[in-house]
Amino acid sequence: MKGIILSGGSATRLRPLSYVTSKQLMPVYDKPMIFYPLQKLLDAGITEIMIIVAPDHCGDYMKVLGSGRDFGTNVRFTYEIQDKPEGLAQALLIAENFLDDGDNVTLLLGDNIFEDDLSTEIKSFKTGAKIFIKEVPEQDRTRFGIVELDSNNKVLSIEEKPQQPKSSYAQTGAYVYDSQAVGAAKAQKPSPRGELEITDLNLWYLQKQQLEAAIISGEWIDAGTFESLYRANTWAREQALKK
Ligand code: TTP
Repeated sequence: MKGIILSGGSATRLRPLSYVTSKQLMPVYDKPMIFYPLQKLLDAGITEIMIIVAPDHCGDYMKVLGSGRDFGTNVRFTYEIQDKPEGLAQALLIAENFLDDGDNVTLLLGDNIFEDDLSTEIKSFKTGAKIFIKEVPEQDRTRFGIVELDSNNKVLSIEEKPQQPKSSYAQTGAYVYDSQAVGAAKAQKPSPRGELEITDLNLWYLQKQQLEAAIISGEWIDAGTFESLYRANTWAREQALKK
């Protein structure tokens, strides 16, 4: 199992903070934001990790994260630049050579903070794709990919930002894929907003009946807005003070 953290994007919702700093390097209490998803990969025993960044910030990431050795003797980081934010599924294309041995891969978004330990679900993954879903309040359901489940928690559908959400479960920024993902992403067409959508990749697996959903019960914060960044800081402080 290899890991990818998607830490590019344009962070328009955090302007003017994001004019000079990458969103995922902004502080969340006592650490840069990206340390939180990174720790999830390390907890799952993943040592080969690709960090995908926007062109403006590559040097900052290298300065903060280095080779990987500070995070463990076997840990190695590979950096890749995403020239334009053309969608989350583009990560699989950028990582094609990195994933050259038919590896499985865990993809985490650099601005997603999870309380749950994802390591059991990551370690038990064999084939297909696994998404992590979380119940969200009614007013937030039109902002996310909404995942409809049957009574056995099998995925029935995923709808991106639906007007009439069919369930309360949102797709979070954690995904695990087998080696089919690169080929599937290559066959994808950009959406009307010009992006290779991660939901389309997940729907490709769903059509093949190879998509599984793991329900998250702890806190999940997508820290990309002022409100959620503030909440992330408060939450991380509470966690740190509990220790
Ligand atoms: P978003 O929060 O959807 O996009 P953004 O970070 O560009 O922010 P905004 O909507 O405010 O302009 O992205 C989710 C995560 O994925 C975030 O960590 C950035 C990353 N990302 C990429 O690395 N490449 C991309 O092409 C996109 C769309 C996002």
